[in-house]
Amino acid sequence: MLQLILLLSLIAASAASCNRTCGKTTVQYPFGFSPSCHIQLSCNSNSVISFSGFPVQNFSTNYTFSVNISANCARPVSTASSFFSNNYALTHKNGLFLGNCDPSSTQQCLLPTLVVSQLSHQVQGCGKKEDNLTCIFNNTGNDYLTKDYVVNGSSCASLFTSILYEQYQAEQTVMVLGLVEIGWWMTGKCRCAANATCARVDSEVKDGYWCKCDEGFIGDGFADGDGCREICAADCERNHARERVRSIIGGIASGAGVLVCLILFCLVCCRYMKRTSSSANYRN
Ligand SMILES: *[C@@H]1O[C@H](CO)[C@@H](O)[C@H](O)[C@H]1NC(C)=O
Ligand SMILES: *[C@@H]1O[C@H](CO)[C@@H](O)[C@H](O)[C@H]1NC(C)=O
Ligand SMILES: *[C@@H]1O[C@H](CO)[C@@H](O)[C@H](O)[C@H]1NC(C)=O
Ligand SMILES: *[C@@H]1O[C@H](CO)[C@@H](O)[C@H](O)[C@H]1NC(C)=O
Ligand SMILES: *[C@@H]1O[C@H](CO)[C@@H](O)[C@H](O)[C@H]1NC(C)=O
Ligand SMILES: *[C@@H]1O[C@H](CO)[C@@H](O)[C@H](O)[C@H]1NC(C)=O
Ligand SMILES: *[C@@H]1O[C@H](CO)[C@@H](O)[C@H](O)[C@H]1NC(C)=O
Ligand SMILES: *[C@@H]1O[C@H](CO)[C@@H](O)[C@H](O)[C@H]1NC(C)=O
Repeated sequence: MLQLILLLSLIAASAASCNRTCGKTTVQYPFGFSPSCHIQLSCNSNSVISFSGFPVQNFSTNYTFSVNISANCARPVSTASSFFSNNYALTHKNGLFLGNCDPSSTQQCLLPTLVVSQLSHQVQGCGKKEDNLTCIFNNTGNDYLTKDYVVNGSSCASLFTSILYEQYQAEQTVMVLGLVEIGWWMTGKCRCAANATCARVDSEVKDGYWCKCDEGFIGDGFADGDGCREICAADCERNHARERVRSIIGGIASGAGVLVCLILFCLVCCRYMKRTSSSANYRN
């Protein structure tokens, strides 16, 4: 029992020590700026938030975040390893442009290489490397790319840049150059807050889950995060008002109780003091 309590307090302490503020920004669970955070970011003196050295562009409510990746011919392909862990991976919406590829294994690139080769002319120190440029793009799945596929399987030496393929509707597609999307999840047994539902990550990811607040509730849904609170409609507002009135009445009642106690105390005291002074009088 004691061990359980100790364990619980340890868990609480580790969750509490994840610093989620950078300047004026508070990031959502499970992100933060201290080593105990599940996904650690960094915060510089100008309050710019970055992930593995890449500036964070956005956090999405859909368990993804995006970071900027500028065009760079000298960035080793192994850098892409930092986009993978047991808590996150690159999503299938990313098209990666890789350079210095083994010409014998260069796949056909389905993405607009022209744009990229023009860009590579503008980037300092790139030369005419676009001849050996290839891309990894596979948006057939709904889930994630794997580290083996990107880092190991490509037989390329450098990670030039990336393109993010966003499909808003069936007919509307936007491609953003220089942005990478990373999807995240939690691992292990579901630890969701009250009024939240756990969803298992349905992919090759082992043991992954997300929490989502139930209909009518808002928040991150995680027990170790901010949990869920009710979205206040008109009747909920009325309930809260009623609660406030009740607590005020309660406060007055308890205040009155204290007052009555004080008065009683005073009465008893006064009587006692009177008695002692009168008994003193007797002695005189
Ligand atoms: C961490 O928390 C402290 C105190 O709340 C705050 O001053 C600081 O800016 C936070 N962020 C970082 C990155 O240390
Ligand atoms: C940033 O995230 C918000 C929600 O978290 C989303 O509505 C918005 O479209 C995102 N912006 C970009 C540029 O991805
Ligand atoms: C949110 O993510 C899930 C799982 O990756 C996906 O099925 C769903 O289409 C996404 N929704 C939006 C609006 O992007
Ligand atoms: C990141 O990329 C977005 C989209 O391309 C751009 O609007 C933004 O200025 C970039 N931010 C930084 C810090 O480079
Ligand atoms: C392409 O790659 C091969 C082998 O790595 C190299 O010999 C060749 O010079 C490269 N071509 C360009 C244009 O960089
Ligand atoms: C694309 O992704 C799907 C689903 O993850 C996979 O089955 C398929 O082999 C991939 N295609 C290539 C060319 O990697
Ligand atoms: C990854 O690379 C290592 C060393 O080159 C190799 O032994 C291993 O089989 C590769 N894994 C995959 C999945 O390609
Ligand atoms: C929300 O959670 C609380 C505490 O577990 C529970 O009493 C309440 O019935 C839940 N409300 C809904 C609408 O699920």
